[in-house]
Amino acid sequence: MTSARPRAACLIGWPAAHSRSPLIHHYWLRTLGIEGGYNIEAVPPEGFAEFILHLAAHGFVGANVTRPHKERALALSAPDARARAVGAANTLWYDGDRLCSTNTDVEGFINNLDASAPGWDKASDALVLGAGGASRAVLFGLLERGIKRVHLVNRTVTRAQALADQFGAAVHPVAWDAIGDLLSRAQLLVNTTSLGMHGQPPLEIDIGRMPADAVVADLVYVPLKTPLLSAAERRGLRSADGLGMLLHQAVRGFELWFGRRPEVTPELRALVEADLTKV
Ligand code: ATR
Repeated sequence: MTSARPRAACLIGWPAAHSRSPLIHHYWLRTLGIEGGYNIEAVPPEGFAEFILHLAAHGFVGANVTRPHKERALALSAPDARARAVGAANTLWYDGDRLCSTNTDVEGFINNLDASAPGWDKASDALVLGAGGASRAVLFGLLERGIKRVHLVNRTVTRAQALADQFGAAVHPVAWDAIGDLLSRAQLLVNTTSLGMHGQPPLEIDIGRMPADAVVADLVYVPLKTPLLSAAERRGLRSADGLGMLLHQAVRGFELWFGRRPEVTPELRALVEADLTKV
């Protein structure tokens, strides 16, 4: 008689950076009573193609992919529209023998906004700071939810222009010094840059001019409460933080691999929060 091994997924990175994903998935496995595993696999770039093309033979039903492999994961799998639009895949699973991929940052961002600031999508004008990979996920999500105008500001204007070309007429690239004027009509502000992150320069904008019903989202989660989120709180604006997005983006992978849709609970949040603030 063969004894079936428990299902397992993994996080593939190089180097295998300290990640909160094992903490999150182990919490869900434990609380849902599922016998399964979630490992960290340190795979160098030269071994990545072999590893994911034989993911099942390595013992995994799926994987998360992190730096520096996300673009190659896209090229080596069957990506959905989200992964293609973002230009990177972070979640892999099998549909039969086919290795499929998506980018769960899109739903991580959107579902966190839905949970933290319901009704946020009534905004007609959004202001997004940054034009890297995270910004692509945010733009895809905002446009999918029907936001009419997204003003996109980036230090390097050509990158904002390139995203406007990709995402179409709803995305308007604007210069950094236009932020002041745009804030007075933006009902949603999203920081996707690394500004305000621990060890990075501060994000110096004054949100005092934003409408009273505006929502502020920051993708930075170290520190948990960025100066931008503190400023939003002081003004009484609703906000969505980077930790919430991190937790919500993990839901889909777990569901695909283990067959149950897990919940982002206050207990999970507290667990990860404690890990983030550990010295
Ligand atoms: P990610 O995948 O997390 O989006 P990224 O692709 O490296 O990471 O993008 C980082 C974003 O932060 C970019 O928009 C970057 O601006 P540039 O395109 O001009 O590089 C922005 N960023 C990083 N450091 C910055 C700084 N000191 N001032 C302004 N923007 C900054």
